[in-house]
Amino acid sequence: MTAPALFNVAMAEDGFVNITAGPSKHKLINEDVEASNLWLYDNSTPGPEIRATVGDRIKIRLINNLQEPTSIHWHGLRIRNDMDGVSGLTQDPVMPGEQFEYDFTVPDAGTFWYHAHNKSWNQVARGLYGPLIIDEQQPPFDKDHDITLVIDDWRVKNDGSFDEESLGSLMDWSHGGRLGNWLTVNGSSRPSFTLKRGEAYRLRLINTANARILDIDPSRFGALVLAYDGQPLTDVAPPLYAPMLLGPAQRLDLVVTPEDDFELEELSGSSPFAFARFKVTGEKSNATPVQYPRPNDLPEPDLEQAKVFEIDMTGGAMGRSVETTYKGQVLSRKDIRTTGQVWAFNGVANLASDPFFSLEVGESVILSVMNNTAFAHAMHVHGHHFRIIERSGASVDDGMPWRDTFLIGPNQRVKIAFVADNPGKWLFHCHMLEHAAAGMNTWFQVK
Ligand code: C2O
Ligand code: CU
Repeated sequence: MTAPALFNVAMAEDGFVNITAGPSKHKLINEDVEASNLWLYDNSTPGPEIRATVGDRIKIRLINNLQEPTSIHWHGLRIRNDMDGVSGLTQDPVMPGEQFEYDFTVPDAGTFWYHAHNKSWNQVARGLYGPLIIDEQQPPFDKDHDITLVIDDWRVKNDGSFDEESLGSLMDWSHGGRLGNWLTVNGSSRPSFTLKRGEAYRLRLINTANARILDIDPSRFGALVLAYDGQPLTDVAPPLYAPMLLGPAQRLDLVVTPEDDFELEELSGSSPFAFARFKVTGEKSNATPVQYPRPNDLPEPDLEQAKVFEIDMTGGAMGRSVETTYKGQVLSRKDIRTTGQVWAFNGVANLASDPFFSLEVGESVILSVMNNTAFAHAMHVHGHHFRIIERSGASVDDGMPWRDTFLIGPNQRVKIAFVADNPGKWLFHCHMLEHAAAGMNTWFQVK
């Protein structure tokens, strides 16, 4: 069920592996329904699994066969700024028919993903994403005990094909984003996996949906949490709260040692929806206990000395109205509708020419983020992982885990801290991709 491993395919003589973004046909539901017109990497949904070992140099040539510009962002990798793949900020968009060479070294082992980063609300919704797995030097799980589950939430029409017409709906942009009605795992619906009784497996869950927050309960099948957003926990443990939320772009690594068949269920609806099934076979073996992966080496923020920035999130449906500036202009109510810039950080919608804040290399920073909107958001920092140091009204972040994307509920304040150790221009945006396009998108500078 896993996507083909990219590094098993032939490399070009110059050491680059080609990935082609282009239009493709794929049956999202089953053989009897209309094929969908999607945009995919190498005609595959999800795109080919990129797999490397921590410390490796990765060389990928993006070939753009789309009718519009694109670029690839390596979500969660702490890599050189000019390889971060943000069209219009860290590189020029790759025009139709053109190519771009990505070449970087991967610092952390873990579960990551890659996706288009030009009009992501459109390109990711149409399928331009894939898993990116960085193995430890000595992976604690062998390939047969290491399962990647790329989860997406598509919006399909009554005939079962991808709903293109509703892309860009201002209703989605100003509410909870583009929510789908068809969940797939590794490109198919409710796949089934066969596991051996009593053996330990790593399950790597990646939420690639534009806006859907998945609600799952790993304790239902006795799973322990190994890692959030690719960063292993110091203490592998049962989930801190159950059920637990997996926001857009977030990853969750679990370890499960199954005794019986089980299902992964999405619990946010009125009744549980089993989206992946696991058949457990064989006699219970006396498998040797696994070594859990060790945390990556991340710089510890200095909370005493850190610079503090307040971020006030506003806008959206049912939000209080605040004066909003977009590209240096104050927006009237009508402008808000015509530009679609319905959300803002500190009253500023989307990228301004100046950074939202600036840091010196090595400086610690605390972002104190207040969600003054009626919706939840999934906030992503490029180029860095951060610790969640405080969350109002909840104790779900015990142990101050490292993450690259955090969920924040309506009227909640979340504080995150990190060391700005990576020079360049970095995005901070909502990973509900409609929200990012509609204003929840800014950048900071590290120099
Ligand atoms: Cu996964 Cu700016 O994105
Ligand atoms: Cu949002």
